[in-house]
Amino acid sequence: MNETSLNLGRSEFGSPENKGNVLSLEGAFDLLKNWVKNEKLIVHMQQVAHLMKSYAKSKGLNELDQHRWFLAGLLHDADWDQWPDQHCRKIIEELESRNIDPEIIHAIASHGPRYFGVEPVTEMDKMLYAFDELSGFVHAYSLMRPTAYEGMEVKGVKKRLKDKTFAAQVSREDIRDASERVGIPVEELISFVIQHQPQALD
Ligand SMILES: [Fe+2]
Ligand SMILES: [Fe+2]
Repeated sequence: MNETSLNLGRSEFGSPENKGNVLSLEGAFDLLKNWVKNEKLIVHMQQVAHLMKSYAKSKGLNELDQHRWFLAGLLHDADWDQWPDQHCRKIIEELESRNIDPEIIHAIASHGPRYFGVEPVTEMDKMLYAFDELSGFVHAYSLMRPTAYEGMEVKGVKKRLKDKTFAAQVSREDIRDASERVGIPVEELISFVIQHQPQALD
């Protein structure tokens, strides 16, 4: 994928007066049902959504905030299946037209700074960026382990990270960069993912 072609060319998203406006859980899943045929992609978004919500909860955020974090995770790749060349412009415009909370839209817009040209600013932005790659990586690792997530250890994940042939499409550089930006060591992020990801589809 060309790194410049997805550049969004702006850094303001949504409108401040829409703060707190969210899609319901049902509304969000309806959107996914209409837009995404690829079931693996839906699993990925559910996993990231669950991690986001779990993290917000662990920080003591209230239920509306937890839901906002959840939505950012759940919708961040919603347009990837049908419009990969318009990722993530398409979902951003959709959420803007629905007057959704600008913070959710900004988080989605900054989930790949190298591609979209938008810097993660808020904690929600940075955690989405961090969980996105790591979630997929740990999931790939779980699929090759006979016991999946059971007994998975941070050091096993780290060993796979060093093996450049394993899940080669996952950018180690983005993982390092995201960990630095959130100020949480990669080991801690991995541990959080191992702990919470198995419950993502419950
Ligand atoms: Fe993405
Ligand atoms: Fe993603």
